[in-house]
Amino acid sequence: MTTSVVVPLRWENGALLMLDQRILPGTETWLTLRTWQEVAEGIRSMAVRGAPAIGVAAAYGMALATASGEDWDTARAGLAASRPTAVNLFWALERMDRLTDRSPASVLAEATDIETEDLAMNLKIGEFGASLVPENATILTICNTGSLATAGHGTALGIIRTAHAQGKVKHVFSCETRPRQQGLRLTAYELMKDQIPFQSIADSAAASLMRAGKIDFVVAGADRITANGDTANKIGTLMLAVLAHHYGIPFVIAAPSSTLDPTLPTGDLIPIEEREAEELTEIEGVRVAPAGCPVWNPAFDVTPGDLIAAIVTEKGIARAPYAFE
Ligand code: MRU
Repeated sequence: MTTSVVVPLRWENGALLMLDQRILPGTETWLTLRTWQEVAEGIRSMAVRGAPAIGVAAAYGMALATASGEDWDTARAGLAASRPTAVNLFWALERMDRLTDRSPASVLAEATDIETEDLAMNLKIGEFGASLVPENATILTICNTGSLATAGHGTALGIIRTAHAQGKVKHVFSCETRPRQQGLRLTAYELMKDQIPFQSIADSAAASLMRAGKIDFVVAGADRITANGDTANKIGTLMLAVLAHHYGIPFVIAAPSSTLDPTLPTGDLIPIEEREAEELTEIEGVRVAPAGCPVWNPAFDVTPGDLIAAIVTEKGIARAPYAFE
């Protein structure tokens, strides 16, 4: 099984190199981050994004903090405040907290392990998930859940990659993913690099494709999955799940177990990030809305578990009713 060569993060010479996803695909620029504050800002501003990649970045942020002798709790709190919804961020920080040896070498080794393990989990998710993909399938996906959003291969996009390598994928439709266009900019970039046949669509075109019988399988990633299978993911995911239910199309979620949050019984308790109005009112820095236009801009929505045909993790395929522990 080949994996995509694109990676979002690299540790080199005591610094964290972060591929600046805000300006992809036009420009491939690597930011050199030497402090936890820079890492926190990289996460907040979405130079790195995607739940697993955020967790890996935060872990390296703690490695930078430790290497420069900074206060553990201050760095941890600063990194934890960078984005609220993806539980992988807190999962990684909690894993760091459990280290009995907080020497720079030990903290860096733990961050490296988190990264390495994430890639291994994604490859397993790809195998399990591909078994659900029908032959000659046309697949719909949203946002970017690929190598850029993880330590490599991806979750939902990892399933597409594995299924494509198995010869099962006829075509992919990739939702643009307004307002930040992770689908149009990043998923398209990865699909083109891997030569997987696809078309980008406006988010609002998904219903027409399903009505026309052109979608066999819908797969999305996750930022947090509660005990009952309710799943927070990129805004617009719920819309796809409702549509898929209406048209009788399997709707599948893919995520590593680091995205599970069994401490929350239902998705109503998931903190949903709301981002700045400019993400919506401006395109590439040019205002398209009237000055002062009021905006509601949630970054995620919650899909109820009963709309999800299967949740694929590295441990296997779970089906409703979900009861994660
Ligand atoms: O706001 P983003 O780009 O960080 O949102 C990303 C998503 O919603 C992804 O679907 C999710 O994090 C899973 S990435 C494997």
